Amino acid sequence: MPSFDTVYVGFHAATMVSSIDYDSIKDAAIAVENGHIAWIGPASELPNHDATVVNLGGGWVTPGLVDCHTHLVFGGDRSAEYEMRLQGLSYEVIAKSGGGIVSTVTDTRKASVEELLTSAKKRLQALMADGVTCVEVKSGYGLDLATEEKMLRVARALGDQLSVTLRTTCLAAHALPQEYQGQADAYIDLVCEEIIPTIAKAGLADAVDGFCESIAFSVAQIERVFKTALAHNLPVKLHAEQLSNLGGSGLAARYKALSSDHLEYLSDIDAKAMAAAGTVAVILPGAFFCLKETKLPPIQRLRDLGVPMAIASDSNPGSAPVLSLRLMMSMACTLFGFTPLEALQGVTRHGAQALGLGLSHGQLKVGYAADFVCWDIQKPAELSYWLGGQLVKHRAVSGELT
Ligand code: NIG
Ligand code: FE
Repeated sequence: MPSFDTVYVGFHAATMVSSIDYDSIKDAAIAVENGHIAWIGPASELPNHDATVVNLGGGWVTPGLVDCHTHLVFGGDRSAEYEMRLQGLSYEVIAKSGGGIVSTVTDTRKASVEELLTSAKKRLQALMADGVTCVEVKSGYGLDLATEEKMLRVARALGDQLSVTLRTTCLAAHALPQEYQGQADAYIDLVCEEIIPTIAKAGLADAVDGFCESIAFSVAQIERVFKTALAHNLPVKLHAEQLSNLGGSGLAARYKALSSDHLEYLSDIDAKAMAAAGTVAVILPGAFFCLKETKLPPIQRLRDLGVPMAIASDSNPGSAPVLSLRLMMSMACTLFGFTPLEALQGVTRHGAQALGLGLSHGQLKVGYAADFVCWDIQKPAELSYWLGGQLVKHRAVSGELT
């Protein structure tokens, strides 16, 4: 007899194992052993077992949602900047005049570990309440060694204290700190010679990210960051082609990046390079919406090329104060022409792939983490259809209901 710990029944499952459909199972059962899925299939075919049976009482079970791009740890807020943008000032103009990312840097440097942890925890709990079981958290509001380390320690603490799988990313190359004005290359020296090596040695980051943009860093500067990351065995990812086309995504593909994110201004040649490299396209509808961007990311081209598309919240105090990943699924459909199936793939199997977790998370499959959500819905498409509301009935991480 199999030695299952728990068996869940009483739901239909959208397993997301196939790349072309929900791969659903009517009246399904999931057996969990040591936090992993040990068996999944129609409940009528469940092997004999002596484990505790939990009936979830109807609805659909999907893999737990994966939010593969967030900036959840930060001090202060930027609601005043939001009001300025509503009056017509642009994100770039605000950034160039000392607002934007650098103003959050000032608040984050001042904040204590406790303050950062308390505020980030509330935001993460909101994402979790809406179905997230796996999340990435970036640094990037420190821009000095001590504060980048502080942010990443807070991020690790979030993962330890909450029922969520958490991956951290070092984003020291996010913006130029004020003390380095006019000396971007010298700041990149600091990132490559001090910040990344120290953080890698302390095991504080699972990946390295950068912001390749005229208000941030050039392709050549990001390439130095990527070389350093790979020398420390850390995979890379990039914020690229958000406000203009600098070709960061082509660079990301050359360095076999896990993902290239934003992509409104992605060129065809870079889209092809991403397809060849297996780099995931992370689409961030929240930033597009909040910045009233009008240039659409080339979704049909990415689809035609077979580039896996993930969707993330980009939760951050400036361009995307987002607390619901499901809302991002809806926006991806309405604003970008995703299908509800693609949207669910974007926050499950493709989101996991964007974190290098494609073989352990984001699908309901034997051997994968038993991270799943039971939703109060009749059809999986409802996950993109409803704006807001409380659709989560149950949430399990490593096989335990939370
Ligand atoms: O992903 N693009 C750069 N970084 C963030 C914005 C961060 C901020 O404005 O504070 C983003 O949109
Ligand atoms: Fe971002």
